[in-house]
Amino acid sequence: MRLLFVCFWMLVSGVHAADNATAAKSTVDGMPATKSAATANVERGRKLLLNRQDTGCILCHVVPGFKDGGDMGPSLVGVGQRLSPELLRQRIADPRVINPQTFMPAYFSTKGLQNVAKPLKGKTVLTEQALEDIISYLLNPPKD
Ligand code: HEC
Repeated sequence: MRLLFVCFWMLVSGVHAADNATAAKSTVDGMPATKSAATANVERGRKLLLNRQDTGCILCHVVPGFKDGGDMGPSLVGVGQRLSPELLRQRIADPRVINPQTFMPAYFSTKGLQNVAKPLKGKTVLTEQALEDIISYLLNPPKD
């Protein structure tokens, strides 16, 4: 009976079992690597970081390897040395876990998002692969 209720709740709220698993792994100590880390690609990560429409990272951050970038958030130059991969992942997936007041969007969480357009309900901004691609770039920035 209980299981039935949980299934029903997931159905109405549009939450997928996979997202729940991801959310559960989020902690203040960071989020462990997902299975997509094995296929992470630095070049895809670079493109995602520079994309103004889909991610918008560069609107708020200076991204390593580029002169331009916003200053609403801290520069991401050297962030791969400052933060552990787990914290880096957590910061991007759902920074609210670390700072509930942050205005940085949660890129890999469906928790507590209000007024989401119907087609986007239950979907994260980034795919798991895209999240890992971005992390691989930040951990392996161009040497210059
Ligand atoms: C609307 C502005 C905004 C956008 C867009 C944004 N961020 Fe942030 N980000 C911030 C702010 C502000 C912080 C400072 C920490 C806080 O608010 O808790 C931050 C912190 C971070 C940190 C931690 C930096 C550190 O030195 O501790 C990382 C990593 C990060 N952002 C990556 C990203 C990535 C990757 C994207 C795109 C997928 C992105 N951010 C998009 C505003 C933004």
